[in-house]
Amino acid sequence: MFSSSVLAVSHHPQVRRLVTTNSASRRLVGRFVAGDDLDTAMAPIHALVARGLLVTVDHLGEDVADPADAVATRDAYVALLERLDEKGLAPSVEVSVKLSALGQGLRDGHRRALDHAAAICAAAARADTTVTLDMEDHTTVDSTLDILGTLRAEYPWVGAVLQSALRRTEADAADLARDGSRVRLVKGAYAEPASVAHTAKAEVDEAYLRCLRILMAGPGYPMVGSHDPRMIEAAGAMAAVHGRSADDHEYQMLYGIRTTEQDRIAESGSRMRIYLPYGADWYGYFTRRLAERPANLAFFLRSLLSR
Ligand code: FDA
Repeated sequence: MFSSSVLAVSHHPQVRRLVTTNSASRRLVGRFVAGDDLDTAMAPIHALVARGLLVTVDHLGEDVADPADAVATRDAYVALLERLDEKGLAPSVEVSVKLSALGQGLRDGHRRALDHAAAICAAAARADTTVTLDMEDHTTVDSTLDILGTLRAEYPWVGAVLQSALRRTEADAADLARDGSRVRLVKGAYAEPASVAHTAKAEVDEAYLRCLRILMAGPGYPMVGSHDPRMIEAAGAMAAVHGRSADDHEYQMLYGIRTTEQDRIAESGSRMRIYLPYGADWYGYFTRRLAERPANLAFFLRSLLSR
């Protein structure tokens, strides 16, 4: 309820202008976003790898309205992958991609996003690393899973994200719990209607545990995308029950959130990957982080008022 209200307000153009043009935002954005451009983001990427962490890099952007912006996003990912290769960072560092940034929402968007994603996968193959397709709101899930299936025929290492908030996800998890299939399970960051989603937090959490059980029991590669201590502890217990070794599943958290816990998990010998976003188009990503946690929003509003 809190989360969906914040996300609804964030779509208002005046709110967007207020948030993107003031210095209080810039300070808080810096906690969640690794820089406005790739040159700035390279230092935090190197620093995470030096701490023994794996990374998935997101070039920020979503919902492009112009086909030229989709092409620019594709080119930015190709340049990113070339840089990772050049610096010897792959395969510790992979990339995460939002298909709406590749034109999925445009006319003929499914084909357009598939073509651009295939070009990014080809660049990832040259760099010897992997790609994970982020999951956006529920209207995009069928198209995203279809694109995943097509890409996996040539690039079997392409990963997907499933959101436990969606009622359909247990069935999707069962479908994707296949050999070699990389699936990041998250709770879901989008405001969704009750017709397709669990809206109470307790229901989303219970669904997360049910989906995790399916993924951990299957032959795929589960990626536990959560900061929630209960989910992380349950994942460890399920991995043990199913005889999984440290290198056939991994934990994932967002850049700037629960960093001490990130180090603790890596030091315990588990694979811990950090989702690191960079780029100037940080608004959508930033407002989802504010919506996830009342304390973040309160901190942000206090900073605004004390300017
Ligand atoms: P929960 O929200 O219950 O938080 C548990 C604890 O984590 C909190 O008590 C707090 O301590 C900490 N925490 C969580 N969010 C925080 C924040 N914003 N600021 C500070 N502390 C915070 N979603 C999606 O819809 N599509 C996607 O593709 C992805 N991709 C993705 C990748 C990775 C690696 C992660 C970790 C998450 C995503 N998400 C996502 C976001 C996800 O859906 C979800 O919104 C957040 O992870 C928050 O849910 P938690 O599981 O952390 O639990």
